[in-house]
Amino acid sequence: MLEIANGIRHLPGYLERAGQQSLVEIVRGIVAEAPLFIPVMPGTGKPMSVRMTNCGPLGWVTDKERGYRYQATHPATGRSWPAMPEPLLDIWNAVSDYPLPPQACLINFYSDDAKMGLHQDKDEQDFGAPVVSVSLGNSCLFRVGGLSRNDRTQSIKLASGDVVVLGGAGRLCFHGVDRIYPSTSTLLKNGGRINLTLRRVS
Ligand code: SIN
Ligand code: FE2
Repeated sequence: MLEIANGIRHLPGYLERAGQQSLVEIVRGIVAEAPLFIPVMPGTGKPMSVRMTNCGPLGWVTDKERGYRYQATHPATGRSWPAMPEPLLDIWNAVSDYPLPPQACLINFYSDDAKMGLHQDKDEQDFGAPVVSVSLGNSCLFRVGGLSRNDRTQSIKLASGDVVVLGGAGRLCFHGVDRIYPSTSTLLKNGGRINLTLRRVS
């Protein structure tokens, strides 16, 4: 376990290959029920470069008119999100140090040219619970800063099977993904990266 900064913990290689593979299968099942959507920025409607879906009682969504929020249904199908799978609950229970289960798992699909700008995860009501992130597929350059956008940042590589816990003083730190490193993993047939973030919302 490596402490990156401010209570942000990096657990390299937390999941072994078999665990990674079974999570990819689970994610494919979720996507079949709850198709990926392209999130857009509130106000401008500018599309992000990742594609998303969710599982669990709540899912994180965004659109031009109503902005960032959690809701119980898929924005296109209107159906409830697929259930939170047991292996993700196991990870949460092992690393979150929080008594209640996660209510949302945001699933981000990065193609090899996708990235995610520096942001805070602050659409939740409960900042006492950490955000737990699981990386699958190609490695990425993950950037973490402080509580203000202009704070100094540091960058670490996240590889397939790595878990990051944004908790405690690090819960509201700015973070983002600067780039994906193509061909750094054989886990996903078509390359790219999947990131799962487990969140407690209320
Ligand atoms: C996120 O902040 O939602 C995703 C972080 C990541 O892809 O590692
Ligand atoms: Fe985030």
